[in-house]
Amino acid sequence: MTMQKIKACIFDLDGVIVDTATFHYKAWKRLANEMGFDLTPEQNEQLKGISRMKSLDILLDIGNISKTDEEKQALADKKNNWYREYIREMKPDDILPGTIRLFNELKEANIKIGVGSASKNAKTILHQIGIENYLDSVIDGNKVSKAKPDPQVFLKGAQEMNEKPEHCVVFEDAQSGIEAAQNGGMYSIGVGSEKNLYKADMIIAGLHEMNISKLKHLEK
Ligand code: G6P
Ligand code: MG
Repeated sequence: MTMQKIKACIFDLDGVIVDTATFHYKAWKRLANEMGFDLTPEQNEQLKGISRMKSLDILLDIGNISKTDEEKQALADKKNNWYREYIREMKPDDILPGTIRLFNELKEANIKIGVGSASKNAKTILHQIGIENYLDSVIDGNKVSKAKPDPQVFLKGAQEMNEKPEHCVVFEDAQSGIEAAQNGGMYSIGVGSEKNLYKADMIIAGLHEMNISKLKHLEK
């Protein structure tokens, strides 16, 4: 896919800007273990990018366990409390390599920067790592009603930045997020391994592998 002029880049948060995907995994695995089963890294790929409650439903499916709505709420709260404990100490040092350099290059090129995350903890993390000033838009789990692969989170971001989807590039580490970008008519860059992100228009190992000239190269 080639694209029109790039006017905005929308970044997923967990697993793209910070390594919090590992904390989500650690907390879900701990919950699974408490219920008597394991969660493999492969199974965890299904949980990436989607909401807390939907992730819990998938986890319970994997463990073949059924719970009432009330019990589910308590389990989701427990997982979130562990997760919040893990992220409590996060600071600017935890921003993944290349992120700030890329943000500066985008600013210089007048390309807008947005964050599109399913997480209700996104604001807390963005504040702790101190990148709020770079962002033209933040759409998080509190602002969306439809989970990735629905494109809502990215379309809202594009709208907030006043840009059309065809002028936006999405950076994502989740399969569901790549599909969301594509469903929204945006160019998708997978951040991570080919094995999980083969549907993406382009794959990089991390933001350290991206720069403004590579991005400009995508334009028609
Ligand atoms: C992100 C992560 C998911 C997580 C979801 C909800 O998209 O990739 O693993 O389940 O956000 O996060 P939250 O912090 O609201 O539980
Ligand atoms: Mg992610």
